[in-house]
Amino acid sequence: MNRPAAAELVAAARAARERAYAPYSGFRVGAALLTAQGDVVTAANVENASYGLAICAERSAVVAAVAAGSRRFLSIAVAGNGPDPVTPCGACRQVLREFPEGVDLEVLCAGETGDELVTTTLGALLPDSFGPEALR
Ligand code: THU
Repeated sequence: MNRPAAAELVAAARAARERAYAPYSGFRVGAALLTAQGDVVTAANVENASYGLAICAERSAVVAAVAAGSRRFLSIAVAGNGPDPVTPCGACRQVLREFPEGVDLEVLCAGETGDELVTTTLGALLPDSFGPEALR
């Protein structure tokens, strides 16, 4: 697999952010999920007039990837439209934890523009996590 560079994944997340539907918060987020097959699945946040039903970009990307047949993820890039890198919310961290790479998933956090990038792992963002192995 020809693994895309971190900057390419961030660029894909920023492009996906253009498709965000965020009329209530105005906070637009894009995500780009790299699958083990080398595909990049992108998505954006989708809000709702019933505010609590907003779906984050990261979870949208997971749902799109699983629906397309991928369940193994190596990396996810997230880009908000604020000045600082955006990190996945707690709910998205738990949803990302579900899949085989689990805590080893790379997480790339970016802001609206610029080169500032927080590179971390799901394990660092979600320590002592609960996952599917606990139910086997
Ligand atoms: N949001 C994301 O899409 N991803 C994050 O990592 C943080 C928050 C969205 C949810 C909501 O549509 C808006 O940003 C404000 O919280």
